[in-house]
Amino acid sequence: MTDPGTDVRVNVEIAARIEQKATPWPGFNGPGAIVRATKRAPGVLRVGPVRPRKLGHVVVGSTDQESSHRFFTAGIGFKVSDRIPGVAAFMRCSTDHHNVMIQHAPVTMLHQTSWQVEDVDEIGRGATALLGKDPGRHVWGLGRHHVGSNFFWYFKDPAGNFSEYYSDMDCILDDALWKAGDWTDSRALYSWGPPPPPSFINPEDLADMMASAHPAG
Ligand SMILES: [Fe+2]
Repeated sequence: MTDPGTDVRVNVEIAARIEQKATPWPGFNGPGAIVRATKRAPGVLRVGPVRPRKLGHVVVGSTDQESSHRFFTAGIGFKVSDRIPGVAAFMRCSTDHHNVMIQHAPVTMLHQTSWQVEDVDEIGRGATALLGKDPGRHVWGLGRHHVGSNFFWYFKDPAGNFSEYYSDMDCILDDALWKAGDWTDSRALYSWGPPPPPSFINPEDLADMMASAHPAG
């Protein structure tokens, strides 16, 4: 089945449940809560490259956000975790807060792929390694989203899309206890961090994409 709004073709398959192995982690020391006594933090002891644990979510642009919303919810069975009314919906097909986000766009596009890493230290280590090789790939970070709660850092991937390292996303284990919210202020984008660059909302190659989607003549 293909959703015309996003041009995304969906194949539904029943696959084995993903069981992620937890890495033992002592937690962060806090005021009055010393959980890592007389030890350096694991985040400063790690060596070697950062390895994402999984592809957690993708964000795609839809030229018909409402019909894409219906396609993914009523058609495929995704659940809505949060909404930016008239603009976007965060949807899940797992216990993660979102696996797919559909946002209004003037042209169908892949906006981002988002890769789960162990924790915020791995986001920082990954960013340091990546930007050490090519500082021009920085897009936006470090910050924390309000919707989904995840720490984030965004980069340009080699194909020109955005790519995110994220950790500590909300997990919805009981649908009945989660209330989807409608977000219309800056929390739709983030809770804290540097302000997003304009290109995050309107990618720099948007005009080119629109031109090739609607060739003149
Ligand atoms: Fe994301």
